[in-house]
Amino acid sequence: MVFMKFEPNKLQASLLHWYDAGGRQLPWRVRPEQRASGVRPDPYRVWLSEIMCQQTRIQTVIPYFETFTKRWPNIDALANASREQIYQAWAGLGYYARARNLHACAGEIVANGQFPTTEANWLALPGIGPYTAAAVMAILHDAPTNVVDGNVERVIARLFAVPTPLPAAKPELRRLAGSLASPHRAGDYAQALMDLGALVCTPKSPNCPACPWANACQALAQHNPVGFPVRRPKPPRPERFGIAFVLQDSQRVLLRKRPETGLLGGMSEVPGSTWLPDPWSLADALTFAPCVGPWREAGQVRHVFTHFALNLRAMTLPAPAKFTPVEGWWAKRDELEQQALSSLMRKVLAVCL
Ligand code: ADE
Repeated sequence: MVFMKFEPNKLQASLLHWYDAGGRQLPWRVRPEQRASGVRPDPYRVWLSEIMCQQTRIQTVIPYFETFTKRWPNIDALANASREQIYQAWAGLGYYARARNLHACAGEIVANGQFPTTEANWLALPGIGPYTAAAVMAILHDAPTNVVDGNVERVIARLFAVPTPLPAAKPELRRLAGSLASPHRAGDYAQALMDLGALVCTPKSPNCPACPWANACQALAQHNPVGFPVRRPKPPRPERFGIAFVLQDSQRVLLRKRPETGLLGGMSEVPGSTWLPDPWSLADALTFAPCVGPWREAGQVRHVFTHFALNLRAMTLPAPAKFTPVEGWWAKRDELEQQALSSLMRKVLAVCL
């Protein structure tokens, strides 16, 4: 194999050449051939897609992106929606602080009269961190920013066979990525690098024969691409336990709203206990039930969050006659799709209804 040293110009050219043929067609993306005929990326679609793609796989994002852009085709429409409508449409996509920030960000952009045109002004908006600011500036304005997400970290760690484990390696990976970033076709380059990580330089089974950077890749030269990025063994994910109470009659289910901030902030849920490191006794957890009665265990639900795994016992009870809830509202069982229910709550309801 001819070993190509890290020559930024050559690496940029080979990656862009690969992207021109092998990059993805995405609903918010303007492909190079469209760009050549004068099509410009739409700031609204690019911004929305980058928020949705944070921590989330593109295949999961696409149907949500289509729903949002059909319902709210531009920033004014999104800013005019209610926060509840946004939560409802976001339900199932996870990391719900993004939905709250998306709405706040839309309001600020409309108040400013335009989308920002500098990285600093993007960074000043709710929900916009360094990655998103760099990505939208590259994609919308071809600004020569340094766009580094998890996919890019993996590609760079392999290309340079960086021995430092993550997360300590992050500044080094960012610096190395910056040393290669292309001032020419900066938006295509940023998206090409992300696509390379997603399609070719995948975590467990990289397709090195298809990689435009194979000749330069140090990890491949060591016959060990999957050994990079180096990671320390993760400590086991903590377990949490709780009990959820599904009070129902033939047509309705009792729901309530979670506090605006914190995990699943602002989303709807069935009443339940707090989540603790040890299993609850039902007797103790009943203080969180909306009413007393012969609660029956319908099943158990396990849901893995980033920082812990939750084990919920799902209890159910037919609502007593003339019961009036102290908290929350009755939601029609055949209209639950329109509630802002997280994937966790959809699992709980699936067990009980
Ligand atoms: N992941 C997040 N944003 C992306 C983009 N614009 N292209 C490819 N992958 C992405």
